[in-house]
Amino acid sequence: MTIKVGIVGARGLSNIQGFQAIPDVEVAALCDMHEGLLQEQAARFGIPRTYRIYEDMLESELDAVVISTPMQLHFQQTVQALEAGLHVMSEVTAGVTMDELWWLKEAVERSGKVYMMAENYCYIPANQLIGNMVRQGLFGDIYYGEGEYIHDIKHLASGYNRRVPGDQAAASKTSWRHYWQLGKRGTFYPTHSLGPVMQWFQGDRIQSVSSFGTGWHTAPQFRQEDTSVTMCQLESGKLIRLRVDCLSNRPHNAAYYTLQGTLGCYEAPRGLGDEAKIYLKADGDHSDTAAWRPLREFERYLPERYRNATEEQRSAGHYGGDFFIVQDFIDAIRHGTRPPIDVYDACEWTAVALLSELSIANGGRPVEMPDFRKTSSGSYREQIIKL
Ligand SMILES: NC(=O)c1ccc[n+]([C@@H]2O[C@H](COP(=O)([O-])OP(=O)(O)OC[C@H]3O[C@@H](n4cnc5c(N)ncnc54)[C@H](O)[C@@H]3O)[C@@H](O)[C@H]2O)c1
Repeated sequence: MTIKVGIVGARGLSNIQGFQAIPDVEVAALCDMHEGLLQEQAARFGIPRTYRIYEDMLESELDAVVISTPMQLHFQQTVQALEAGLHVMSEVTAGVTMDELWWLKEAVERSGKVYMMAENYCYIPANQLIGNMVRQGLFGDIYYGEGEYIHDIKHLASGYNRRVPGDQAAASKTSWRHYWQLGKRGTFYPTHSLGPVMQWFQGDRIQSVSSFGTGWHTAPQFRQEDTSVTMCQLESGKLIRLRVDCLSNRPHNAAYYTLQGTLGCYEAPRGLGDEAKIYLKADGDHSDTAAWRPLREFERYLPERYRNATEEQRSAGHYGGDFFIVQDFIDAIRHGTRPPIDVYDACEWTAVALLSELSIANGGRPVEMPDFRKTSSGSYREQIIKL
């Protein structure tokens, strides 16, 4: 049976090649409040039905929606879709308050529908390759990871719709990013940095979050500090360090990661000709002889589907990553399986942003992460954020 998908928010079109490459999947509807953009994009991608009002799209004949609107809308639009009996793939982050995350978890559990957060950095080939090496034990016992999202987005604070070039009226207005991203303290956008690392630490969970900022120097008109560093202590006692910087004047590096284990380590490139590199301890190695090897020497550890990706799958973007994320969502719908980034991952990774805001406003004090996976205490009624 054909799975009919609706997309809300024009960014969702970055997934369209992925959907169109899967047999028996049809992108049947597009919703965007910008009429010009809506009509132009629907015509460009051959999408038959268009809506300016999201609620109207939900009433049309669909099986699933992709939510790609500004992040403060994700929670409400997700719950509305679940209540309409639809499966959901949502852009990052999953919500903007802790209450929303509890509600989201409960709505997904009640609905029995698939919810997947579209954390596309988990699908970057290098991150998948490292995950495969971790599962094969090549780094030994892994105990430390880092993720950094360094991306100057000051220019995105205005222009309520950056997808309509030349629309002067839209460009002169304040954007949602001014409030929900650059208007927040702490690691407001953690999932790109955290998601891949948490997948390497699979089976563990974040127990506490502690966050620090540099203060306001580069662009003090924003509430966000230039750089925020968040330490995530895991239940196992292991550690992840995150850095988010969306204001500093410098070249971007939105996908920097490190992993350390007892038998080796990994470092993503820092720029200026640097490349991704791996060290695996060999017999007799010591600190003077230990040497990096380029990641490309380890390509055989790329998951098979990446190595065998067809031209069509690769052309979806990121060497097939933009196809496989969509494929995993559709597979979860078809086979009733758990999606690789489920509602519990989505809530925990998103909560890092919200708890980091609390921590930073309390001098870096560790804030306990609730366990969204627990069924017994899993209700907003028992929610206590311990400071
Ligand atoms: N995963 C990634 O790599 C990545 C990259 C960029 C953005 N994002 C996320 O994608 C989302 C959208 O970001 P963006 O850069 O496309 O934002 P944007 O402001 O450029 O575009 C948002 C779109 O949503 C539409 N929209 C807004 N409110 C709407 C509503 N109520 N109903 C229908 N349409 C509505 C706007 O008209 C616009 O076309 C955000 O959550 C952002 O965090 C993710």
